[in-house]
Amino acid sequence: MTGDKLTGEVFYTSEETRNKAHIKDRAVLDLKAKKDYKKFWADIAGDLHWFKKWDEILDDSKKPFYKWFTGGETNISYNCLDRHLNTFRRNKLALIWEGEPGDVRTMSYFRLHQETCRFANVLKSMGVNKGDRVTIYMGRIPEIITAMLACARIGAVHSVVYGGFSVESLTERIEDSRSRVLIVADGSYQRGKVVPLKDIADEALQRAGTVEHVVVVKRTGQPVLMEPGRDMWYHELVSLPIASHNCQLEVMSAEDPLFILYTSGTTGKPKAILHTHGGYMVGTYATTRYYLDLQEEDRFWCSADPGWITGHSYIVYGPLLNGGTTFMYEGAPYHPYPNRWWQMIEKYGINIFYTAPTAIRGFMRFGDAWARRHNLTSLRILGSVGEPINPEAWKWYYNVIGNGKCPVIDTWWQTETGMHMIAPFPTDPLKPGSGGLPFPGIEMDVLDESGKPAGRNTEGYLVIKTPWPSMVRTLFNDPEKFRQQYWERFPGYYFTGDSARIDDDGYIWVIGRVDDVIKVSGYRLGSADIESALVSHPAVAEAAAIGVPHDIKGNVIHAFVILRDGQQGSESLTGELVKHIGHEVGPIAKPEKIEFVDKLPKTRSGKIMRRVLKAQAMGEDPGNISTIED
Ligand code: PRX
Repeated sequence: MTGDKLTGEVFYTSEETRNKAHIKDRAVLDLKAKKDYKKFWADIAGDLHWFKKWDEILDDSKKPFYKWFTGGETNISYNCLDRHLNTFRRNKLALIWEGEPGDVRTMSYFRLHQETCRFANVLKSMGVNKGDRVTIYMGRIPEIITAMLACARIGAVHSVVYGGFSVESLTERIEDSRSRVLIVADGSYQRGKVVPLKDIADEALQRAGTVEHVVVVKRTGQPVLMEPGRDMWYHELVSLPIASHNCQLEVMSAEDPLFILYTSGTTGKPKAILHTHGGYMVGTYATTRYYLDLQEEDRFWCSADPGWITGHSYIVYGPLLNGGTTFMYEGAPYHPYPNRWWQMIEKYGINIFYTAPTAIRGFMRFGDAWARRHNLTSLRILGSVGEPINPEAWKWYYNVIGNGKCPVIDTWWQTETGMHMIAPFPTDPLKPGSGGLPFPGIEMDVLDESGKPAGRNTEGYLVIKTPWPSMVRTLFNDPEKFRQQYWERFPGYYFTGDSARIDDDGYIWVIGRVDDVIKVSGYRLGSADIESALVSHPAVAEAAAIGVPHDIKGNVIHAFVILRDGQQGSESLTGELVKHIGHEVGPIAKPEKIEFVDKLPKTRSGKIMRRVLKAQAMGEDPGNISTIED
């Protein structure tokens, strides 16, 4: 690909960064992958440790239930930790962590391995076996990482619930996963306040009945209720003689489940995306190394939360599989001032920084000076994830944070894909607003309504045509829904739920969701999450929620509510409903606006036409409304 032939605005990475990059020319990888994409992935898998090599790279005999590296035996936790212990990485920092109040903790690979083993032994002593689900509900503290790695070590399936979710979100995730063990923190610091995680968990445990043991990490020290026989302190447990530094690991088949992660889909309650030890390991290892260009001496900061897929793949697994140093920060970006992040990039000498467009747009509004007062020259690579990045934000990030020398790696992917699917390599020509081309070995296309390729520069449905190692294997508890949701709309292809167009250079421009998923500040919510919280309020008879574009957050939520007989819409009821949603789902789901209405537009079969509500909210023509009931 020669740069001068590309259409539109194009940027190039500095020579220094190009020279250092793992991948000097993507064409080499593309060629290799084109020749034999299975072998291409197998070669990458060969960098990692397998107790037994696979018999078959890809088993596609039961589509869409693909299997990778079948017959292979490994353990992702072993590859993240033990594998490094006989090398110089034994003493290398695996984790640097800063709390919101400014406290700092670091852990070498040696230490992180020990901590993981100690806690894994605790879990074993509670009777946690291979395949059992364990729910983890914490803020961004080191124990969330050790808890995940400890589960993986003994073959338990972790289900991390984002610490910003609240009572009902936690309840339904505990219940659906049938977790017997919950690992929670007493609280977490956010913007100088304490989020009472244990109190929220106590309320959830009154609704969900499966949990027998609760392990509580002391983070903030505020008083919490400890139910005798059920609740135990983490620090006390890991000091017991059973919590030795050695813990026999479970040898896992490549296809054994590693984790489930609940995410909002098209309809109904959030569904659990299931990922496995082998394929997920290969995908996150490869993309951290080749797209985000993690190198031995780097300090790597992904600002996401481990409660979302970005944190799973690029705070925890990807960096540790590469033997990298991962940095995690507990608090909010602008606290106490809008230079907090830039201060830490300078203080820790961060080389790779990976965040969301919402955060970038949020910083832009405070002006350049907050960033300019810090020395950010350690940065080499910048990353973006979670939603489309508008060219203005891209250029600000590139110029003000990256000082015009760091490529912006705009990564498109999903909870379901496990790893980055579309992104530029650091050496690719960059177009602000487009992630560029898919990872080698992955074919994607944009289709029209009838399933034919939409052709260049035409908006359509984004699909993935080739299987990839870290693909979602199924929906836990609901394989039929898995088939329907992802594989039925365009038979043979994985349907992403996104719309996109492909330009003359093959660059993919993702536009946004075409279903009822709403991305608010990069967080994935579903219309149904907000609607079911609203109708659980005694004043509400029916509700509809939509996403409406917003300059900083990408989208905000507008809700339409039909009240029960005898109820009156008022400002105080609006406040009460917003609070109710915050309490049930979490603060991120709070609508910006609630409108009281007498009717909702519905199809004759009774489905709410959110498209019509959205057009109305945006002052646009609702288009074809011939199917509307009234
Ligand atoms: O709409 C796309 C958007 O986020 C969705 C996936 O959300 P989630 O499963 O929460 O994963 C987010 C982190 C990977 C996608 O269907 N999305 C994600 N990254 C991008 C994006 N949209 C445009 N550009 C991106 N780089």
